[in-house]
Amino acid sequence: MKIKNFNTRRVLITGGAGFLGSHLCERLVSEGSEVLCVDNCFTGTRQNIFHLLNKPNFEFIRHDITFPLYLEVDEIYNLACPASPVHYQFDPVQTTKTSVHGAINMLGLAKRIKAKILQASTSEVYGDPDVHPQPETYWGRVNPIGPRSCYDEGKRCAETLFFDYYRQHNLKIKVVRIFNTYGTRMHPNDGRVVSNFIVQALKNRDITVFGDGTQTRSFCMWMI
Ligand SMILES: NC(=O)c1ccc[n+]([C@@H]2O[C@H](COP(=O)([O-])OP(=O)(O)OC[C@H]3O[C@@H](n4cnc5c(N)ncnc54)[C@H](O)[C@@H]3O)[C@@H](O)[C@H]2O)c1
Repeated sequence: MKIKNFNTRRVLITGGAGFLGSHLCERLVSEGSEVLCVDNCFTGTRQNIFHLLNKPNFEFIRHDITFPLYLEVDEIYNLACPASPVHYQFDPVQTTKTSVHGAINMLGLAKRIKAKILQASTSEVYGDPDVHPQPETYWGRVNPIGPRSCYDEGKRCAETLFFDYYRQHNLKIKVVRIFNTYGTRMHPNDGRVVSNFIVQALKNRDITVFGDGTQTRSFCMWMI
């Protein structure tokens, strides 16, 4: 039986069964927060959070954040959204809906229950930048009609919504622009460079370098 402690911090993590979300769930559960993990399991899996399912301070709810959700929490981490191009281009309309409708639903919830809310944004808000490295004052160079626009523009619109909720409703927001992150529990078919290299190496295959190999990227490694 789960016994509720009314003094503990209650946290909602959307996309909590994904790569980054599952690590965040694990960390906050270990710190004693009461964690509600919401995920539609599009790219995330129950396997990623399997070790948490029997913890008294962890709960998993299968739900698509493009639909409203009514819960009582103190903090919301909005991570739900496929991050890899192969996955977000699979159903681009759903990707935009997840970023935009999802943000509207989560911000509406945060406003109603007076919760703090964090948005997992992306370096892709800078698009194909002509400034390197990008300072936060740089507004980006983004194609609004290309195959990646569902993700890039969806995330940009979500940032707009977060800052308007802050200005208009005084909501406590945080927006983090994450750069390419890799680590354990990444989807093996993620398709991005570091995991591709690792999967090819593990299979004893040649490592594929696209173009002339002079491309640059900033990487973050998820450390446990
Ligand atoms: N991994 C990176 O390098 C990176 C870089 C920049 C930004 N981000 C952002 O961080 C967040 C997490 O990324 P990740 O790498 O863990 O990706 P991921 O694909 O592993 O996790 C995303 C999770 O969101 C869930 N999801 C997708 N659509 C949903 C919906 N409509 N309703 C509920 N759940 C939904 C998926 O099932 C999955 O579990 C994403 O918002 C992503 O845009 C990640």
